[in-house]
Order: sequence, then C-alpha cells, then structure tokens
Amino acid sequence: MKRLEDIEFAGKTVFLRVDFNVPLDEKGEIRDDTRIRAALPTINHLLSQSAKLVIASHLGRPKGQFNPKFSLKPVAERLSQLIGKQVRLAPAVIGDEVERLKKDLNGGQALLLENVRFQAEETSNDASFAQKLAQGIDVFVNDAFGACHRAHASVVAIANYVKEKAAGYLLEKEIDYLSRAVRTPEKPYVAILGGAKVSDKIPVIESLINKADHILIGGAMAYTFFKAQGQDVGKSLVEEELKEQALAILKKAKESKVDFVLPLDHLLATAVDREAATEVASSFPFPADKMAVDIGPQTIEKYAGIVAAAKTIFWNGPLGVFEIDKFSQGTVKIAEAVAKSAALSIVGGGDSIAAVEKAGVSSKISHISTGGGASLEYLANGTLPGVEALG
Ligand code: 3PG
Repeated sequence: MKRLEDIEFAGKTVFLRVDFNVPLDEKGEIRDDTRIRAALPTINHLLSQSAKLVIASHLGRPKGQFNPKFSLKPVAERLSQLIGKQVRLAPAVIGDEVERLKKDLNGGQALLLENVRFQAEETSNDASFAQKLAQGIDVFVNDAFGACHRAHASVVAIANYVKEKAAGYLLEKEIDYLSRAVRTPEKPYVAILGGAKVSDKIPVIESLINKADHILIGGAMAYTFFKAQGQDVGKSLVEEELKEQALAILKKAKESKVDFVLPLDHLLATAVDREAATEVASSFPFPADKMAVDIGPQTIEKYAGIVAAAKTIFWNGPLGVFEIDKFSQGTVKIAEAVAKSAALSIVGGGDSIAAVEKAGVSSKISHISTGGGASLEYLANGTLPGVEALG
C-alpha cells in the first residue's frame, strides 16, 4: 500500500475519498465534526502540494436518490472554515457540470462532490459509475477508514480505473493501531464488547475467542446470552433469533482458553427513562416488568480489575444506556479504568467514543478510531475491502 509521501501530487487531479458521515441535529447542523477534522492532515498535505482536489464522501443512507436532508452542504461550509479556503460543493456526484467544475480546479483548490450515495451505483460497487468517478483523475487517495468495510464504488471499484493510488494519513494511522491489536497484541489482551446487538458482533467475537485473553460483555447484548442459557431476563432487550449462535459462541469460548465474562450483577429499571425506579439484581429471574439498563457494581469492580492488568485493550459499544446519567455508571467507570491503564487502548464506534467523552478521558486513550463498523470488521478479518483495493 502506497503512502502519500510516495507520490508527487503537484498539478495532478486527486480523487480523495473521506468519511464525512457526521451526525447532524434536527436543524441539519453538524453535531460533531471529529471525522472532518480527522481528514485535515491529508487534505492540507494535498493542497499544500498543489493537487487539484476532488473530495467525495457519503452521508447517511439516502438510498440512491437526491435528498436535501443528506446534502453535504453543511460539511462543505465546515470544511471551508477549517482549512481557511473556500471548498465548492458540486451540485451532483457525476455529470457534465461536475466534469466542468473538476476541469476548472487549479492546483491547491478543492471541490466537494455531493453525497456519493445519491447514486444507487455507489453501494452496488458499479464499474461504469466508478469509471465516471475516475474520469480526469490522476491519483486515488483513500482516507475514509470508516467506510473501508464497504465494497462501494468510491471505495473499491474506482481503484481499478486510476493508475496511482495511496492511503491517506488517517487510514494509515487507523491501520497501524488496529493491526497491532490484530497481529501482535501484547498480553493480557482484553476486549470489551457492549451495545444492543450480538448480531453486529458475531464475526469479531469469533475472531477474538482465538486471540484475546478476556472478553468482557456488557450492554443489552449480554441478555441474548443469558436468555439463550434459559435465564428469565424480564423485559431486557433480546435477539431471540440469535439464541443458537449465542450458545455456539459460549461453547467455543469454553473450549478455547479465553475468559468470556458476562455481567455478574445488573442495574434494572422499569423503562429506559430517567424517572424510572431502579434496583440492582445479582440473580435471575428478573421481575417481569424490569429490564437491564447497565452493569451492576460487582461487575464494574471485576471488569475494572481485569482492565487494570491489561497490556492491550479493544473496546466497542457502551455497557449500558449511558445517554441517561443514572444508567451510565458502568460505561463511565470502565472508561475511567481504560484511561488509567498503561495498556495500548483502542476505542471504536460512535457510542463508545461518546462514552469516553462523557467520562472526560478521551485524551488518555491511545487511539480513538473514527470507524465503528470498520474497526470491528478489521479486527475480525485482519483487512478491509477498501484497504485491499489500494493493493
Ligand atoms: C459509519 O458511520 O460507520 C461509516 O460512515 C459507514 O457508514 P454506513 O454504515 O452507512 O456504511
């Protein structure tokens, strides 16, 4: 895989794929511009090298149709502010007007294409669409780590139609940290997995069973494991259809040497509501009108102890409904434990990032990944389609 330093950019037209899939509020304003800031080192490098920059990103899932709700307009404005230079927003992704705007670029200028997912051919990795994206392009630079697990046209197929290709600084940094966890993790290696669904995490759990020393489970996904073992979990969120797979994972974990840990106690509430009454339970059955909303105090103590001894930590997914203060203790205390440890710590996924921010410890995490799904898939497979496409 080539790096930016391996390529001479002066006067060349560069197609830069970034992941500007930022959260927007009800007014359509950017709630968090981390992903835009994360691409600035690459953008500034290319502009300072006098590249003619064509930037592309997706935003949300507009399903192949123009939809003003998913326009990159607010992103173009924020990017212009951040680089101190006007970034023009193209009216579309491909077409005559876009080609004219590309040709009009001078060295050191940037054009942002509209949301690539306004074209259905993006997500189908369509070859002729990729050819259109590549029209007039000399170099393809991919800095969209968060989208590298998607075999989409602006991430994968385009690489077939551009001669020179390279990874941007963000992609390089993400792969550098994650590959340390995949290939040479210092032991003990502790994985903390939370969030609502087991379904999102099956491949990564299967891979971690063979690599990690401890897998600590939290969040609603824990209750699919408990229910699969015949426990009565009250109204807790459960993926009924995954019971068999959950049992298979528990069996595999038992056969391997990994310490696969489910919560020892649970914070229960009648509803996901800050006014709801709560109680701690350390056994089953849960009352029929109650659901688990956080890990309990004994679990926090146990998990924090395991984290304290770790040399490598990977964390994806909150351990409870951390958006509600009353239910955030487990996530916040584990974030503090991760921050305190001397381990190489990698945190991935929007919710986990919000959780370390809520705990005020982001600066003490070795690497905060900009890609939730991408970091899980990299951990599971040791590579990603977008990385493979760079050769
Ligand atoms: C993300 O937010 O994880 C990436 O931008 C990928 O978005 P997607 O899940 O809609 O492909």
